[in-house]
Amino acid sequence: MSNKLKIGLFGFGCVGQGLYHVLNNSTGFKADIKKVVVKNKFKDRALGPELISYDKWDILNDPEIDIVVELIDNAEDAFYIVSEALKRGKHVVTANKKLLALHLEELYLLQKENNVSLLYEAAACGSIPIIRTLEEYFDNEELEKVSGIFNGTTNYILTKTINEKLSYADALKQAQDKGFAETDPTNDVEGFDPKFKAIILALHAFGLIIKPDDVLNIGINTLHDNDIKYASEKGYKIKLTPVIQRLENDKVSVFVLPRFIKESNHLYNVDNEFNGVIVEGKFSGEQFLQGRGAGSLPTGAAVLSDISALSHGYKYEFKKYAQKKAPGFTNDVLVQAYLRFNAQKDLEQIKFDEITERYTGSGYHYIVGKINLKRLIENREYILKNKCKRSILLL
Ligand code: HSE
Repeated sequence: MSNKLKIGLFGFGCVGQGLYHVLNNSTGFKADIKKVVVKNKFKDRALGPELISYDKWDILNDPEIDIVVELIDNAEDAFYIVSEALKRGKHVVTANKKLLALHLEELYLLQKENNVSLLYEAAACGSIPIIRTLEEYFDNEELEKVSGIFNGTTNYILTKTINEKLSYADALKQAQDKGFAETDPTNDVEGFDPKFKAIILALHAFGLIIKPDDVLNIGINTLHDNDIKYASEKGYKIKLTPVIQRLENDKVSVFVLPRFIKESNHLYNVDNEFNGVIVEGKFSGEQFLQGRGAGSLPTGAAVLSDISALSHGYKYEFKKYAQKKAPGFTNDVLVQAYLRFNAQKDLEQIKFDEITERYTGSGYHYIVGKINLKRLIENREYILKNKCKRSILLL
């Protein structure tokens, strides 16, 4: 690679601007942004006009550009740009978790066939170096579980509404103003964004490529004051927690659900936009990583770290996937859960395998027990229907 890297940047939103700032204020590492391709011609940008283009081919067809940094919103447009860049022998850095989760296999093959590098540390948990930790440190160890808080927006909303009594609308507005939320915050609050991140981590932790449609995601938008009351009575906090876990039959299950968190859990004090990842290895035991999971500068710093890694010729090896020894994927697992409901027919519909606690009140009821994840998936729409009538949380 040439001495001074030449970057073609797609997108100049929150993360693009963060990268620009971090790049211009880093003392140790130098790279030039040669061109920035953006969509909206009428937006004012703190960039020299000579840098701006509205034509993707100005980057893709420029032989001087070594690295394409893709930081746009639309996953399908991003897939086209990233694929074309890889086919043209350019290295790619992206922070686009939806693009990756939807197209992991194709992108894996493209970077391999074209002998280029595709890096995406910023796509999962912002500034936490979780992908490289899984790739480099845990590349040989069999992992038991990777779980945590992978979404800054929902953690910010839960912190502000539950701990600080802000309204949901105000907390979401703050998360948007601070640049944590996706352009469409449904992806955050309904748990799609952390699901995409869990799918990316499942590849590096277990060598598995899983389709997003096969993974259950329930977000924080079903939560009600009665769930918060239950949490405060028991001394719990509520967090949105993806889980990727190896089961006794050696298969791996993946799901995203809100969870009641005890004070003894590492995640209890992970608040605001912070993310936390707990990695459990067969021999190494438990590791806990915490850092800013969203925001312009922390995410920009993660992109810069990938660009710097590229300058040293770094590539993911995808060892666990490439060795084709990955365990199978399953949704056939019992989970310990709390279900809030308001009519007996709900229990006939969402059948628990085992009930250990039952509460019947005037306005709502709940049970605690075990339910098969497959049955939760079958009943996802039913649980989400008539928002706030029902909620399901892990325990
Ligand atoms: N919307 C995402 C979040 C941004 O809140 O975590 C970082 O991926």
